[in-house]
Amino acid sequence: MIKSILIYGTGIMGASMAQIFAQYGYETILLGRNDNSIQKALKLIEINQKSFVDFGVISSNKSEEIKRDIIFTTDNNYLKKADYIIETIVEDMNVKKEFFKYLSKTAKEDSVIVTNTSGLSINEMAKSIKNPHRFAGMHWINPPHIVPLIEIIKNDYTDDDTVGKIKEVCDKIHKKAVIVKNDCSGFIFNRLQYALLREAAYIVENGWASIEDVDNVVKFGLGMRYACIGPFRIADIGGLDTFNSVSKYLVPELSAQDKIPLLNKIVDCECGFGVKNGKGFYDYSNGNDKKAIAERDELFINIIKNFYNNLDNDL
Ligand SMILES: NC(=O)c1ccc[n+]([C@@H]2O[C@H](COP(=O)([O-])OP(=O)(O)OC[C@H]3O[C@@H](n4cnc5c(N)ncnc54)[C@H](O)[C@@H]3O)[C@@H](O)[C@H]2O)c1
Repeated sequence: MIKSILIYGTGIMGASMAQIFAQYGYETILLGRNDNSIQKALKLIEINQKSFVDFGVISSNKSEEIKRDIIFTTDNNYLKKADYIIETIVEDMNVKKEFFKYLSKTAKEDSVIVTNTSGLSINEMAKSIKNPHRFAGMHWINPPHIVPLIEIIKNDYTDDDTVGKIKEVCDKIHKKAVIVKNDCSGFIFNRLQYALLREAAYIVENGWASIEDVDNVVKFGLGMRYACIGPFRIADIGGLDTFNSVSKYLVPELSAQDKIPLLNKIVDCECGFGVKNGKGFYDYSNGNDKKAIAERDELFINIIKNFYNNLDNDL
């Protein structure tokens, strides 16, 4: 039975996850590298909790309880005791493998170990872990305290007992788990996300539409449909004969580039990292960064409250 959850990594993802585990009653330990990283996590949690209270997800009393219950620490001794350890540090294979080697000497033999990598090889990481049958990917979606999906990715040795324990944790924190049966780059979520981003950028690069209008097509059309039913069901309802005919002339026209030049240009030539430094596909100067995050959180929370809680139906 999983009682204590330790999160190693106090960035955007780790700080956000900690709140959810504490909210649903797990003993939650947020382990950082140094005091500076703990301070950053405290700030992130303060912002996230404020939006949860402001938008009526939890009461202010519950929020205070959550913040009080999380153990913030830089003491690696906690790794020895935890039943379940989540790695969510920088997206770098070597750094992650170094941590797993250290962890293998430190953690309990039977603790479950998961990584929140966005898409690095789970099999490669498993090589650095003692007893890799208890290791898997547990890929959360940003912002993890709001978005319901979690991908569970098996490595070649992950056993059913481990998948069962991860699934049980997901159920307890009210997340929707899907299983990725074999390690594949990007898993499901990022393969789909990057296929769409590549095509969205291709449309703009060719001058066929503006960035705003491509976003609008997703917000007001594709996104609304995909929030309710997936691409296969949409095709079934639309008529597979029609989808088949369109696919034959359209698919050869789609981008098959092995890069996304519009994205590469903004990052590599203009040093634009998006909301992080105020410059991205849109301009985030003059407080537009905070506004964009606050608006996103409010919209996402409204969707969850009014809609997603009833979504686990047959469709
Ligand atoms: N941000 C997202 O949208 C998102 C979504 C899903 C998964 N992820 C994955 O989650 C993980 C963390 O991403 P994030 O967005 O929270 O990043 P972040 O930059 O906010 O946080 C990274 C954390 O890693 C720590 N760190 C950096 N270098 C380290 C090192 N050498 N040793 C130990 N710790 C180190 C930092 O102190 C920080 O706490 C990554 O693997 C990322 O791919 C991110």
